[in-house]
Amino acid sequence: MNNETRSAPSATPSPSQTSQTGPTGRRIGIDAMAFAVPRGYLDLADLAQVRGVPAAKYVQGLGVTQMSVAAPDEDPVTLATDAARRLLRGAGVDPSQIGLCIVGTETAVDHSKPVASYLHGLLGLPSACRVFETKHACFGGTAGLQNALDWIAAGSARGRSALIVCTDIARYSLNSPGEPTQGAGAVAMLISENPRLIDLEVGRTGCFAANVHDFWRPLYRKDALVDGHFSVQCYLDALAGAYAEWRGVNGETGGPASESDRLVRTCYHVPYGKMARKAHQRRCQIDGLDEAAADASYQREVEPSLRLPSQVGNIYTGSLYLALLSLLHHEAAELAGQRIGLFSYGSGCAAEFFAGRVRPEAAALLAAIDVTAPLRERQRLTFAQYEELRKGDAQADQRPADAAGEIERGAALHLVDQRPRYFGIDPQERRIYAVQ
Ligand code: CAA
Repeated sequence: MNNETRSAPSATPSPSQTSQTGPTGRRIGIDAMAFAVPRGYLDLADLAQVRGVPAAKYVQGLGVTQMSVAAPDEDPVTLATDAARRLLRGAGVDPSQIGLCIVGTETAVDHSKPVASYLHGLLGLPSACRVFETKHACFGGTAGLQNALDWIAAGSARGRSALIVCTDIARYSLNSPGEPTQGAGAVAMLISENPRLIDLEVGRTGCFAANVHDFWRPLYRKDALVDGHFSVQCYLDALAGAYAEWRGVNGETGGPASESDRLVRTCYHVPYGKMARKAHQRRCQIDGLDEAAADASYQREVEPSLRLPSQVGNIYTGSLYLALLSLLHHEAAELAGQRIGLFSYGSGCAAEFFAGRVRPEAAALLAAIDVTAPLRERQRLTFAQYEELRKGDAQADQRPADAAGEIERGAALHLVDQRPRYFGIDPQERRIYAVQ
């Protein structure tokens, strides 16, 4: 038996007690971001009309106005590649700088081969690169992000950056309660030292985990199964647990140590906008705010982060990061130097609360990336087109690629809109993609 006594870990100093962002004494965080969505979207008012539901239930009740819908030639690989290419081009990043590439997804295209390998090849990343995929429902992207922060803090990066891409197609059965909370898209993030968007507080996160059956997708299904109202409860319990640990780790159980440490905004995982509102109300309760103060706080501190998600729908792993992009797109200039909170939730479940500070360069960089371009490039679908796409979706994984002819036709189309495409499978059941 080992009688050696170990001293308790020393309390981490609060952010105001150090001039740096965390115990590493270095600035590490998100250097650049971009997102991608499919070409088509469905307006929720059109869905409500066909389903015989008042549009207000979806728009005000759930907080969603539109949802992205993937076509059969769009999948988590093409969305991830599109988002990453927008990031690399817009932020002027050379792919040779990347030494770690992680894809977070819960809608992978293969039980073995990771989306990250396809992405690595389609982007032309260096062969000296650690490449893998992470899965834990909607938490998979955060698992990748935290891994990248630790990779840099540990010195493994040797000056290189990490590319983290969250990519998913959220599908529920047609005509189910989950149907209006679908969506599709990817968010790409470059994680590096001396980042231009946000410094993250490495080593100061609050975690929560429990074994619950709130949302799951058996291996043989494309559509997720969910215990909807129970999942809302699980999310809120996980928030309370992760936030409590975060407050303890940061020495903030009696409120922030100083005004400059206050979280002026918080981004939450957004399966639908109302969920983020419920989450913020729960946090305000924990902080001792009354209902009126909580409502005012929601409008100021959360609403700007929900504008992009309300036009895209749930993108699972990327939802929190689309909320962050929405916040920075709308308010980066006024938030320069301010501390913001981030809450990630993955069913099953795992959750993490963490924080960071917005960089003064963020607004100019996001303007250069033109982050909202993917929304301007979309087309509104009719309900009939949406139904047709969902039918095609079911067969897309086994559609023969028709060898060279199909690829040539697709490549010609590709030249028009510059998007990566999935063509189908070859005779050995390998997925075929092309990019310009
Ligand atoms: N006008 C305005 N509001 C209306 C309305 C109307 N005419 N009719 C209803 N509403 C409101 C309701 O009052 C309700 O608001 P509150 O939640 O504030 O009470 C809201 O609209 C939704 O109504 P219902 O609860 O009746 O809706 P529902 O039972 O049909 O389905 C749902 C809601 C359970 C969230 C369902 O959409 C679902 O299962 N979604 C998928 C699961 C999900 O997203 N869970 C979130 C937590 S899990 C997670 O975060 C991981 C993940 O990404 C999946």
